[in-house]
Amino acid sequence: MTVISTAADADLCAPLPVLGSDVRVPLVTGGEVTYAALDYAASAPALQRVWDDVAAYVPYYGSVHRGAGYLSQLSTDLFEQSRAVVADFLGCRADDEVVFTRSTTDSLNLLAAVLPAGTQVFVFETEHHAALLPWERAGDASVTYLSAPRTPEQAVASLDVALHGAPKGPKLVCVTGASNVTGELWPVRELAAAAHRHGARIVLDAAQLAPHRPVDIAALDVDWVAFSGHKLYAPFGTGVLAGRADWLREAEPYLAGGGATRTVARTAAGGIDVQWHTTVARHEAGSPNVIGAYAVASACKALREAGFDGLVAREQALLSALRAGLAAIPQVRVLSLFGEDSARVGVLSFTVAGWNSSHFAAALSAEYGIGVRDGLFCAHPLLRVLAGAAQDDPGECGAPDAAPGEASLNAIRVSFGAGTPEEHIDRFLSAVRTLIRDGAAWSYRAENGRCVPAPQ
Ligand SMILES: Cc1ncc(COP(=O)(O)O)c(C=O)c1O
Repeated sequence: MTVISTAADADLCAPLPVLGSDVRVPLVTGGEVTYAALDYAASAPALQRVWDDVAAYVPYYGSVHRGAGYLSQLSTDLFEQSRAVVADFLGCRADDEVVFTRSTTDSLNLLAAVLPAGTQVFVFETEHHAALLPWERAGDASVTYLSAPRTPEQAVASLDVALHGAPKGPKLVCVTGASNVTGELWPVRELAAAAHRHGARIVLDAAQLAPHRPVDIAALDVDWVAFSGHKLYAPFGTGVLAGRADWLREAEPYLAGGGATRTVARTAAGGIDVQWHTTVARHEAGSPNVIGAYAVASACKALREAGFDGLVAREQALLSALRAGLAAIPQVRVLSLFGEDSARVGVLSFTVAGWNSSHFAAALSAEYGIGVRDGLFCAHPLLRVLAGAAQDDPGECGAPDAAPGEASLNAIRVSFGAGTPEEHIDRFLSAVRTLIRDGAAWSYRAENGRCVPAPQ
């Protein structure tokens, strides 16, 4: 069965080549199949182009910003060029800064660390923990948690009300571009307009948006954007925080160490006097991860060159087939904050009546060679909202040892992207139908917090 078979679909672009697309995995029931990676939202496979670029560079690998040799100079140039490529990919304004970090989590923690004194932060309870949690730890910032909106319009209205009543002083709104649980798109431009109307700044968590949609910092009029290389087909340990330079330059360096300093000298009193850089280097102490930065830049170029129009069209066709297939299975409940018809990227979570999600995901892997994710997706308050559970319901977090049918908050997430062939969506739907109809062919048990096939 082919899920994409209409004449209108004939023009869809081919999936982009990714590593691992021909990897075979064993099935617990015997034999092996080609692995279907449907967990892009956690970490996407590397683009072949990224891997090739990195492999071509590695013989020339050298230190960055700290070597006189030819390879050090070349590596330094490559690192700085990568920064320029990322700035271009994000449509940065002339005075924006691109800081290379380790990940989205790192980027948002960096921003939390540079907040001016007394900043009031506004964040929806629906955010990924990386966007929800850094702010309370930040000096004397106060955090307002906004309740889950049930429409994009409600999100804007509730931010408007919250900011309207807020006392004077620096303010920051943190919002996701696309939910890592439902895949639903958030009204970023409208939220940015609301923030700016009230003199607040806004940071966009683009961890799930950047791999699926063009992100233009100037057009969206957001102050910062954060994303992770490993979700953007560049799994070499680099993330990005891009945006306004002032708060970054005025704050203490994120990490203290070499590279962030202009001069360090002993004082007459026996202490140490440090002059920190006031450029982007201020927050990039330590030896930079040039391979990671180059890989991110290579992915940005590859996506640009492939063209988001074609990538989005293809992803939406796969998503339509996936949604239609799941909608036809009465036992499946797709999770949604904004409603059935809301716009989404290729990320979708669901539960299956009578099944524990961990069992279901384990069976998809062990019996069908399909890799999805189960659990609460580092968005526990959101999962409680979606499950209709009270926020103080301890639930069963992950619940690998809950019996089939036993109540738990966890769900199954299927996510895909530029490298996903149609066949993976077909196989996934067929496996879901068979599992629900026939049950699991194997028995499973909990081990180290995971649901795994039991030895037989
Ligand atoms: C929406 C969102 N924000 C932030 C993060 C954190 O990204 P990382 O784990 O790369 O730091 C994730 C990861 O899943 C995410 O989905």
